[in-house]
Formats: sequence, C-alpha cells, structure tokens
Amino acid sequence: MSEVQNPVSNAHEKKYARLKQTLDRRLQSLLPQTEPETLYKPARYILSGNGKRIRPMLALLAAESVSGDSKNAMNLALAVEVLHNFTLIHDDIMDNADLRHNRETVHKKWDANIAILTGDMMLAFAYRLVLKTPSENLGAILGIFTESVITVCEGQAFDKEFELRSKVSIDDYLMMISKKTGRLIAASLELGGLAAGATQAQAKVLSRFGELIGQAFQVQDDLLDIMAADNAKFGKRMGGDVIEGKKTFLLLKGIELTKGKERALLQSVIDGKGIAASRVGEVKAIYEKCGVLAEAKKLIAQNAKAAEKLVMKLPNKNGRDALLGFTASVMQREF
Ligand code: IPE
Ligand code: IPE
Ligand code: MG
Ligand code: MG
Ligand code: MG
Repeated sequence: MSEVQNPVSNAHEKKYARLKQTLDRRLQSLLPQTEPETLYKPARYILSGNGKRIRPMLALLAAESVSGDSKNAMNLALAVEVLHNFTLIHDDIMDNADLRHNRETVHKKWDANIAILTGDMMLAFAYRLVLKTPSENLGAILGIFTESVITVCEGQAFDKEFELRSKVSIDDYLMMISKKTGRLIAASLELGGLAAGATQAQAKVLSRFGELIGQAFQVQDDLLDIMAADNAKFGKRMGGDVIEGKKTFLLLKGIELTKGKERALLQSVIDGKGIAASRVGEVKAIYEKCGVLAEAKKLIAQNAKAAEKLVMKLPNKNGRDALLGFTASVMQREF
C-alpha cells in the first residue's frame, strides 16, 4: 500500500515495526546469565525465535488506548511474552513437535528435562517482570496474571484429554481454546490497560476484546497448521495437528460437513489417534472441498467484528486505532 493512498495504516505499520523491534531487543537482553548453560541458553534460544510478539504488542497498544502512553506496561508486555514462550516449550513436548519458528524445538535440540526446567524458570522469571510494574493496582495485576496461568494449564489439559476422548463437540473445543489461547491474549490486553490506569469498565472491555480475538486466533492457528501459504514462514510442521490426532475446529466441523469416504477418512484421524504424515495431503484436499475453510473464516470474521465494536469504548483515539489496525493485520495473516 502506498503512503499516499493510506497514510494512517502506513504510519501504523511503522509503529508496529518499531514496537516489535523494541520488544525483540528487550527480550534478547533479558537473560544475559551464562551459567548454568543448560538453563539460560535454551531460554535465550526460544526468546530469539521468530515469534510474532502478538501478546506484548496487544499489552502495549491496550495501554495506549487507555492513557495514550504504553511506558508503564513494558514490563508486563515482556512478562506475557516470557510466559507465552514458557507455554510453547512445554507445549512442544506435549505435542511431540520437533519444529518451531523453523528451528528445532527446545526439547529436541537439548532434551525434555532441560526443556521442562527452562520452562519452569521462565514462569518464575515472568513473575519477576510483573513485579516491576509501577502500579497501585499491582495486587489486581498479579491476580489476573496468576489466574491466566492456571486457565492456560486447564486449557492444555483439556486439549490433551480431547485427543483421547472419542466425542468432542464444537462447544467443547471452543471452551478449550478459550482457555489455552484466549485467556492469555485477553489477560495481555487487560493487564496492559491496568498498568496504564484503566477503570474496571475499561479493563473489562479489553478482556472481552481479547477473548474474542484469542478464540479467532486459535481457529486461525488450526487453519494455518495445514493450510499455511508459506510453510517456511509459519515455521511448524505442516499438518502436525492431523498427524497428532488433534480435534481442531477443522476436523470437528469437517466431519459434520462431509459424508461417505471423505467423512470416514476424517473420522479415522480421530479413531486412529492421528494419521500418517504421508496422508496429510488427502485431509487437506477434503478441507479444501467441504466448506470447512469458509466456516473457519466466518468464525474469525465474526469475532473480529464483535471485537471491533468494543474498542470504541476506550478513551484514546490514537491507541484505539493502532489496536484495531494491529488486530486486523493479525486476523488476516496467512502464515
Ligand atoms: C502459538 O502462538 C501458540 C498458540 C496459542 C496458537 P503464536 O502464534 O502467537 O506464536 P509465536 O509467539 O508467534 O511463535
Ligand atoms: C498452543 O496451542 C497453546 C499453548 C501453547 C498454550 P497449539 O499446540 O496449537 O500451538 P502450536 O500450534 O504448537 O504453536
Ligand atoms: Mg498444543
Ligand atoms: Mg503445539
Ligand atoms: Mg497449533
């Protein structure tokens, strides 16, 4: 898009790039310790991956949409990203994933013990960062952060339980992703807002906004898991969810939308607790044909639209516009 055609969005793009650069730099210098090497090296490694930094960006933009200034939210922004990366390290063990950000996962590059301990340390490190927030609301902030950690663990437990359960409804699935993914995204926004002095009502708006976006974000992650336009950029194993027998939105809805042989193949992903990597292409072809991609995109668009309306309740226009622009770009991503 040229600057002349769309000056606002262009200014926003520059702002996002600048904020992301700041976040990347800060994350890089968070853990300079050299010893023990098997603790700090893997922590630095995961934080130096090509993460999108969505949660800390949302925390900063939420703060800006409340007070016009994101300074006080910086440590919380770093905290949610460190927490997120801890969940990724443990998630990759749980999902048998060998690849993240197009590099070996921590448990693969080192081993599971190292990955577990590094994750544990990062969880505590995230709290260390939260405690640096200059706010009269620190008690409430710590409470929200703590509850979000517990909720993410609940979501991850449901995710694994669902792999083994024969019946999972779309509602079960939506509940599970709200916990494993939606909660931390919602908390990032709410915490960023609180650090900037949000009222209870504003904090609630930010949290609800995050729940909607977070749910859409996970459906999109499921979609990209098999459909990413540029798999090198997506950086995870193509079709990993089908191989692992994950009951994703695509699989559950796909079974509703198909019949005969196609339905039987999708059902076999559930019954066989996964499928050979060589058959991912067949599943993908069914998804492309049966209308489930449109269903997933519809859910994402509906949530994004509902979220957009909420933002009007926040006081700072510049921050609000930046938040909306960023969310729109996340919702449209193709890898
Ligand atoms: C991955 O989150 C895990 C999910 C909740 C889908 P992201 O897609 O935000 O991962 P990074 O931080 O960019 O790697
Ligand atoms: C991960 O969901 C959610 C958390 C890490 C809490 P996924 O298992 O779908 O994430 P990816 O696809 O491995 O990034
Ligand atoms: Mg997982
Ligand atoms: Mg995973
Ligand atoms: Mg995924």
